This record gives sequence, structure tokens and C-alpha cells, in this order.
Amino acid sequence: MYYFVERMTEDDIEQVQAIERASFSTLWSANTYRHELRSPATSRYVVARASPTPPPPRTDRTASRRGLASLIPMLFGRQTSTHDFPIVGYGGVWLSVDEGHITTIAVAPAYRGRGIGELLLNELIDQALDMHADVLTLEVRVSNIVAQQLYLKYGFRPTGRRLRYYTDNGEDALIMSTEPIRSPAYQEKLRQLRERLFARLREEANEPAPLHNNLQPRIE
Ligand SMILES: CC(C)(COP(=O)(O)OP(=O)(O)OC[C@H]1O[C@@H](n2cnc3c(N)ncnc32)[C@H](O)[C@@H]1OP(=O)(O)O)[C@@H](O)C(=O)NCCC(=O)NCCS
Repeated sequence: MYYFVERMTEDDIEQVQAIERASFSTLWSANTYRHELRSPATSRYVVARASPTPPPPRTDRTASRRGLASLIPMLFGRQTSTHDFPIVGYGGVWLSVDEGHITTIAVAPAYRGRGIGELLLNELIDQALDMHADVLTLEVRVSNIVAQQLYLKYGFRPTGRRLRYYTDNGEDALIMSTEPIRSPAYQEKLRQLRERLFARLREEANEPAPLHNNLQPRIE
């Protein structure tokens, strides 16, 4: 399967909420998503889609300027026109002054472990750069080792703790933050990570859709 990312729209909310329900215990309302999507100066949401054929090129502004996502169609070649491919993951980032705050990121359970979380995080980093963020930060459950590993890989380091941050079970949040994301050191790290991710996604392109897949591509 080919995986690609693009900006989320209001038409995507239902599919995003299905992944959210499978991933988190506290959920956002459709109205919250709508509100977020209507504030693009400070709030960016993206979705990852799966396609059995090479994905169509992106047309949004950020993609044309820079970034991993814009390269995916070039990597795999362009063979199809735009279709409504199923959403397999999503994520969001807010801008607060000069700080990009990753608000959410999740991949549909059947699609985890295929590089899609990384693909999404890379796109969120690009979106944060596009909004002129200097650093990135986020909160993650202290028990969520998988997500923490992903963030550590991308240079996030623990910088604090919010006690009993999660209202469902009173769990603490670990605060994780990056070094300045425009620094030559971070840009070089990103370049190397993206090179490896490209290779992984190329391999994924030859793999079939996961078993137990209830997300059928909507391709006529
Ligand atoms: C966290 C999440 C988004 C990762 O997405 P994913 O597509 O499965 O992750 P990827 O395949 O892109 O893996 C990227 C990195 O994540 C980490 N990771 C992924 N799966 C892991 C696992 N089972 N154990 C440990 N680390 C893991 C690794 O660092 C991995 O890099 P590597 O392959 O070089 O080891 C996904 O597990 C998810 O949706 N979890 C539920 C929602 C959630 O917890 N979101 C985070 C809220 S803060």
C-alpha cells in the first residue's frame, strides 16, 4: 500500500473520529474539529491515506513549498487521478507564539508499525515550520511508551511533567520538547530520518493492505 498525507477537511471528520475512538479514551466533538479546521493560521490538521496505487500529487500550499509529503508522488510516480482514499491516521499541531504544540496524532490500529505515525509527524513538523514555529512541544501519557519512542526518535526530550493531566484515569503527562527545529543540527537529523522513512515507505508500497482491514479504499 502507498501512504500519503494531506490537509484534513471537514469531510474527513467522521473517518478521523473512527480512528480517534479506537485510539483514545477522551474524544473531541465534530464541532471541535470544525473549529480547529477553520483556524488555519494557528491550527493545522492532516490525514494519512492509504492507496493501492501511487497517490495523486498534492495541491495545497505547504506541500508545494517543502516537505516529505510533496515528494511522495514523485517518489512513486504519478499514475492515478484524485480519489477519496481511506484515512488511516491523522494528527494536528497548534501554534502558540513561537511554539508548535502537537495536539494529537493517531494511526488506525490495523495500520500501526508501518511508518504512518512517522509520516504524519513529519508533516506536522512541516506544518509547524510553515506557521513559523521555532520549537515543538507536546504532552504524552507517562505510560505511552510507543508514542514516546516515536517522539524521542524525532528529537523530543522530556522537559517536565503535568501531574494528573489526564482526567479519565488521573495519569500524569510527560511534557516533551524539541531543540529549535530550524537549527542546522535539527534539519540534518530530519533529513536523515526522512531518507530512512522514504526507504521504508517504498518497501511498504509493495506490501498488501493489512489483514483485518475494514478500511476499504473508495476507488471505483
Ligand atoms: C503512536 C502512534 C501514532 C505511532 O504510529 P505508528 O504508525 O504505529 O508508528 P511508526 O510505524 O511510524 O513507527 C515510528 C516509530 O514509533 C515507535 N514505535 C512504533 N511502534 C512501536 C512499538 N510497538 N514499540 C515501541 N516503539 C514503537 C518507534 O520509535 C518507531 O520507529 P522505528 O520503526 O524506527 O522503531 C500509534 O501507535 C498510535 O496511533 N497510537 C495510539 C494513539 C496515541 O497514543 N497517540 C499518541 C498520543 S500522545
